[in-house]
Amino acid sequence: MRATNPMNLRVATFGAVSCAMISSAFLAPGQVVNPGAPGIGQPGGPISGVSSIELGMFNRGRAIFDRDFHASTGLGAPEINADSCRGCHQDPVLGGSGALELNVSRFGSDNGGMGPFTNLEGGQSLSKLHPPFVALREECPPEADVFEQRQTPAIFGLGLVSEIADIDILANEDPTDADGDGVFGVARRVDVNGTIEIGKFGWKAQLPLISDFARDAMLGEMGITTPNDHRGLTALTDADGVVDPELSRRDFEDLKMFMKLLGPPIRTGSTAPEVAAGELLFEQVGCAVCHVPSLPGPAGPVNLYSNLLLHDVMPTDFRGMSEPGAEVGLYRTAPLWGIGDTAPFMHDGRAEDLDGAIRSHFSEGDAARVSYEGLSPTEQADLIAFLEDL
Ligand code: HEC
Ligand code: HEC
Repeated sequence: MRATNPMNLRVATFGAVSCAMISSAFLAPGQVVNPGAPGIGQPGGPISGVSSIELGMFNRGRAIFDRDFHASTGLGAPEINADSCRGCHQDPVLGGSGALELNVSRFGSDNGGMGPFTNLEGGQSLSKLHPPFVALREECPPEADVFEQRQTPAIFGLGLVSEIADIDILANEDPTDADGDGVFGVARRVDVNGTIEIGKFGWKAQLPLISDFARDAMLGEMGITTPNDHRGLTALTDADGVVDPELSRRDFEDLKMFMKLLGPPIRTGSTAPEVAAGELLFEQVGCAVCHVPSLPGPAGPVNLYSNLLLHDVMPTDFRGMSEPGAEVGLYRTAPLWGIGDTAPFMHDGRAEDLDGAIRSHFSEGDAARVSYEGLSPTEQADLIAFLEDL
């Protein structure tokens, strides 16, 4: 696991952690780390072809992503996992992934592992922190007997992902395993005001739009309310006495634009023979069945290495969260672009390194894992070298 940047983080405990015992990191109030946005083509910079108006929005949106919120600007109600987006998405640059101790936590009940999974009062999200200025504290009910950690993924290139057409995602579905390869694959269907949309974002592909995630993260991680978009997916008010929406429409539009224009991870372009050999092996052992190298986008192929479908690659005794359209064990094929920078791996950070991530594939991932385990150590190293180059 990579060390977190000590400049960006200061560990503090604000009141006791509720039922999931997890530590957390918190930024010192007023600490602003905004050394100026990276340029086009640099890690954390915008995609190429942005207009000057868009660039202005990108830079303002980036500053909001980097902003420390306070009680006076609506922080906490009492949901609070951090005081800025940067607090978790920071490695190796703003918008990146987060270390294990920044994981967020979910809870529910699965009847001691016997099932079925049920949501308990308060929903699944468990706030880790209780800021001293908020009297209430979210606790999970005593019936909670299943917890799930979620790793902070990098958000690079999400604008390109958002432009992938539903039809190109649905084309790879195989809900009955008609081709008999042991791999299924279903798209996440999300009910938005009675209309079914295809979910693309989050470990369970739980949200269709980037803006849905921006609102969800503002409220769920920081207790900041956002302007009404009439999609009905997030609460519009909270309980902290600050006038809602706590984020202005202009700020919200800028934040959305930052996320939409944030460039994809940049490949090193290595011509090393082991990288080329690893790419062939990636296909041969069946990784590419789920981690499809590219999906079509309006401006050309999007090289995300995911089919954006849900698969079960968890061990059979896995216990975790269930949502309508994404049962226990089902996760979105994790995109592999930029994977060299985002350890630890899998939704809950169960794998320390890439070799461990591959060895953590079970169920639908059994065949690929077994093939990988059958490779020689050199071949395995080649495959990892290829992944690190993405
Ligand atoms: C406490 C840590 C934390 C903070 C703070 C945080 N995030 Fe996240 N972010 C996560 C985690 C964990 C996930 C994965 C959640 C899931 O899928 O269950 C995530 C996922 C995302 C995704 C989806 C990425 C993808 O590949 O689908 C977006 C977009 C995002 N966050 C944006 C934001 C924005 C915008 C903010 C600030 C308003 C923010 N996050 C603040 C931890 C955090
Ligand atoms: C059956 C579909 C499937 C196959 C085949 C498959 N994967 Fe995955 N992979 C997934 C899913 C789903 C996840 C997300 C698991 C989770 O969220 O815990 C994942 C996660 C990963 C991760 C962790 C990503 C992250 O951001 O933490 C890596 C690395 C990875 N896969 C590499 C591989 C490689 C290499 C192969 C071939 C040996 C492979 N996978 C085969 C579906 C698959």
